[in-house]
Order: sequence, then structure tokens, then C-alpha cells
Amino acid sequence: MERQSPRVSPSGGIKIRPAQAGDFDELLALFDAVAAERRWIGTEPGFDRTKYRAGWQAIIDGKGGAHFVACSQNKIVGTLSLYPTANGAHDLGMLVSRERRGRGVGTALLQAALAWAREHDIPKLTLGVFPHNASAIGLYEKMGFVTVGRLERNRVRQTGDVWDVIVMEKDITHFRETSAPPMSK
Ligand SMILES: CC(C)(COP(=O)(O)OP(=O)(O)OC[C@H]1O[C@@H](n2cnc3c(N)ncnc32)[C@H](O)[C@@H]1OP(=O)(O)O)[C@@H](O)C(=O)NCCC(=O)NCCS
Repeated sequence: MERQSPRVSPSGGIKIRPAQAGDFDELLALFDAVAAERRWIGTEPGFDRTKYRAGWQAIIDGKGGAHFVACSQNKIVGTLSLYPTANGAHDLGMLVSRERRGRGVGTALLQAALAWAREHDIPKLTLGVFPHNASAIGLYEKMGFVTVGRLERNRVRQTGDVWDVIVMEKDITHFRETSAPPMSK
């Protein structure tokens, strides 16, 4: 697995807040930059910006999910989104600007997401991550996600390479245990 950046000590001054429509241009620029790295996220250069805007707007319009941004001095340095999937589970995607990685921004975003999921009785968070993304896997494991599978040759990249995807999950709400109904004789 490949590391993205040397570890440096956490920095303060990061504010996590829900994304707003006025953030979309800055968020698209952040996605452009991370997509251009071509290593870490499913999004690749030339992605459908209209679709991304529509997805973020749907969250603001209360159609489900959550979207957070991490700001440092009013500049967006990271983002995390949760989109509803089957059975109330939510799929998580996140990124931090290259210059700000390894300083606790990802941890702060995930803490906000976990708090939101608990508040909203979300049963489970799921995500997919490329096997070479050591930083992301390390962060997810630190926050209690476990690997539940590996989708082999799952993502065709613009280069023509085909990458596996590791599937990770974290249970959020603890269901009340119920016993099975008694067997009839
Ligand atoms: C993955 C990503 C979101 C992590 O954000 P971050 O702000 O760098 O993460 P943090 O600084 O909060 O790191 C938290 C934990 O991640 C792990 N981690 C971070 N960098 C690491 C590295 N280079 N190697 C191994 N583990 C690492 C550690 O467990 C770390 O905990 P610690 O600081 O207590 O040791 C960020 O690196 C990123 O945006 N990468 C590019 C996009 C991406 O990969 N998105 C996720 C796609 S699934």
C-alpha cells in the first residue's frame, strides 16, 4: 500500500460545518485537484460537474444524506459526504486538499460524520477504497471501520488500468436484541 504524505503534527483552526450552495464552486475546484492526482478517488478529470452539484443540492434540499466541509481561514480544505443506500445505510466519500493532509482534517470530518450518523439513527456507514490508499485505510480503521470484502477488478480507470476496491463498513446504531419467537410444537 502507498502512503500519500509524511505524517505531521495536527494543526488547529479547522472548522467543520455543513456544506452550502455557495461552496459548490470551491468544492468542484477541490475535486478537480484531487482527481488530477489520479490515485486516490474514483472521480477522474472531466467528471460530470452538473451531477456532482445536483447530488450536493439534493442533500441541502433535505432529500437525505449529509455533506460537510472542513474550513481553515474560510478556505475549504476538505469535504465529506454521506449518501443513503439500501436499508438506510449511507455511503461515505471524502477528500482533503493535498497540502493539508496528515494534520487531522480527515479525522475531524469523520468525527462530524459519525456524530451526524448517530444523531440520525443511521444503522451503518459503508465505503469503497482503493487497496493502495494506505492513508485512507489507516484513517478508516482508526475510526472503527472494518474491511468486509474486496471487489476485484472493479474500477476501470481512464488509463485503462482496472483497480480492485476494498469495501469497509462501520455499524453505528446498536439494535435492541430480540429473541426469536418460540418454536411451535
Ligand atoms: C484519506 C484522507 C481523507 C485522510 O485525511 P487526513 O486529513 O490526511 O487524515 P488525518 O490527518 O486525520 O489522519 C488520520 C489517520 O489516518 C491515518 N493516516 C493518515 N495518513 C497516513 C499515512 N500517510 N499512512 C498511514 N496512515 C495514515 C492514520 O491512522 C491517522 O491517524 P493518526 O494521525 O492518529 O496517526 C486524505 O489523505 C485524502 O484526502 N486523500 C486523498 C483523497 C482520498 O484518498 N480520499 C479517500 C478515498 S476512499
